[in-house]
Amino acid sequence: MVASNGAPGYHGARLGPSGMKRLAHRVLKLLTDGEFHSGEALARALEVSRASVWQAVGELTAAGLELYRVRGRGYRLREPLSLLDRGQIERRLGPLAGRFALEIVESVESTNTLLMQRAPAGASQATVIAAEWQSGGRGRHGRPWHAGIGGALTFSLLWRFAQGAGSLAGLSLAVGVALARALDKLGVAGAGLKWPNDVVWRGRKLAGILIEMQGDALGPGLAVIGIGLNVRLSDAVRTRIDQEATDLETACGRLLDRNEVLALLLAELWNVLEAFAREGFAPLRSEWERRHAHRDRRVTVILPDARRESGVARGVAEDGALLVETRAGVRRYHSGEINLRPGKPVMGNGKRVMGNG
Ligand code: BTN
Repeated sequence: MVASNGAPGYHGARLGPSGMKRLAHRVLKLLTDGEFHSGEALARALEVSRASVWQAVGELTAAGLELYRVRGRGYRLREPLSLLDRGQIERRLGPLAGRFALEIVESVESTNTLLMQRAPAGASQATVIAAEWQSGGRGRHGRPWHAGIGGALTFSLLWRFAQGAGSLAGLSLAVGVALARALDKLGVAGAGLKWPNDVVWRGRKLAGILIEMQGDALGPGLAVIGIGLNVRLSDAVRTRIDQEATDLETACGRLLDRNEVLALLLAELWNVLEAFAREGFAPLRSEWERRHAHRDRRVTVILPDARRESGVARGVAEDGALLVETRAGVRRYHSGEINLRPGKPVMGNGKRVMGNG
């Protein structure tokens, strides 16, 4: 999977808004046993023509799946792959399973878009849509989010709040805390949070969060929380990403079962979102700061109008604003994007920090 990952404007291997055909998924299912399958055997098993199988294989590779093709033997997955399975996820969720309305879709343009469309018609609290593949995954700032089939977790969770959208500041940071907790449990050491809501490991992006809201500033509202997590980046996907990215396999040292990872993420999201609904971001603030990847680092904040402001990242406020120590004092940023400047951590007050600002 890739994100710009959010590379502006990449549309190279996309299969169009209708997404992948059902046959491609049936071929994929047969390949998940890790054995070689000839085109002829696949065609026979699926009762279609060899040309259709060939086309389906083309769709899968265009979607980032890595396949070996050996003359005389057929196709085999390059890496083992287990498909998303609702039963397995629910089993791992245990008693929490009943809280979620979980749906696995093979192919969709964007899980966020689909859930945003379903929300006004009354989609229930904690509806989750997880996709094996997105034909038009979206990142923040209108960028695409790239993910290879089977190589990522791409899902969206609907959460309804009694309070209005105006009081949901800090939600994206809270979601970052949930992801970081899940990564701890999976044995990933040193995952950090980059304001406002990227999850990074050794400076490279591991996961991204896209939150979209519906509702009034004062009345009840809802958030569609979209999460993209790189599980295993194929070379094809990695080359599409225009920033340093990493995956769970690298961070963990082993390939994890995506069903296990998704169940853990949902459990942590449940805990954090319940706490957030009661008390907001304030109780999570110190944990976020402990996990802050840029704490006491020189940063440049790129504002939405492209102006840049520099200082030292110190922490976050209770409303989720980023606190940066600048020559003019501590400034609060509610939106924008951070770039980390090279340089060692800077301790102490603004004067020492801003020496060569
Ligand atoms: C970012 O870092 O820019 C946010 C990326 C969010 C990607 C996820 S994948 C599941 C959900 N559906 C989307 O279209 N986007 C989010």
